[in-house]
Amino acid sequence: MRYFGVIGSPIHHSLSPLIHNFLFSYLGISAHYDKFDIPSPSLLASTLQSLSGANITLPYKEEVFGLCDEVRGFAQEVEAVNTVLCRNQKLCGFNTDGLGFWECIKNLELKTALVLGAGGSARAIAMMLKKQGVDTMIYNRTPSKVDFFLSRGIGVLETLEVKEVDLLVHTTSVGLDGKSLPYQQEKLQSLVSKAKYVFDVIYPSQKGIVGIDQFRDFFLSRPKTAFLGLSSQGMDGLEMLLYQAFFAFEIFCDGQYCFEELKALFYNSLK
Ligand code: ATR
Repeated sequence: MRYFGVIGSPIHHSLSPLIHNFLFSYLGISAHYDKFDIPSPSLLASTLQSLSGANITLPYKEEVFGLCDEVRGFAQEVEAVNTVLCRNQKLCGFNTDGLGFWECIKNLELKTALVLGAGGSARAIAMMLKKQGVDTMIYNRTPSKVDFFLSRGIGVLETLEVKEVDLLVHTTSVGLDGKSLPYQQEKLQSLVSKAKYVFDVIYPSQKGIVGIDQFRDFFLSRPKTAFLGLSSQGMDGLEMLLYQAFFAFEIFCDGQYCFEELKALFYNSLK
């Protein structure tokens, strides 16, 4: 039996165990995936080394980048890791957030984007948008955290100006409670009204989703996140969660299963 998990804090809301355990069981793989609430970064390395692989969520994606013995692909560009493989006590880091996000929005016509927040998710999203030729800006509450973006040619707004953009993406951790907003509501409301498309990386959470049947009901009739409550339409982070998980699963299984087949089998089970 191999052991995997998602590491972060808070972590109680995470649906990653459900997704990965469903795939392990459906594919007959002897593995189990759990949640690890790590209150202090000092416990990250030992927790990672006790597992075959892991996903990393807030607030540790940048911290884990620094802990990895080797970093591959897009994670090198974003300097943030959301997927780790552990072999012989060596940690190898990847980032599947950027690809997971792109899978959600790749059919939209986008020229400009504004990303709210400057954490690990914002890095992956802003870098992916830039890579795909979208003119991308970010805004963050704490200006000292924006150097990464400036040094990669991503524009930084010093104040939260209301401007027209094709895509507005919310990536801050505010709203996990289902009701809080990161900045002044009126300002956000005006920003949302000027955006063609709105994306919130947060997904609504609900207690008691332990099996695929409960997940199906939730997937089909989930409530809006606090941020999307400001908009008449918009995408929450649930599909991004699924897509980054399928890309991570591909890595956990050494490419034995590909994204498209994992997506198809998971979605078929929701019908
Ligand atoms: P993730 O890995 O999911 O991106 P993270 O790295 O912990 O999470 O980043 C959290 C983001 O939420 C940061 O942009 C943070 O802003 P600061 O750099 O100013 O801390 C943002 N955030 C967290 N709490 C916030 C709050 N109360 N108001 C506004 N932004 C907040």
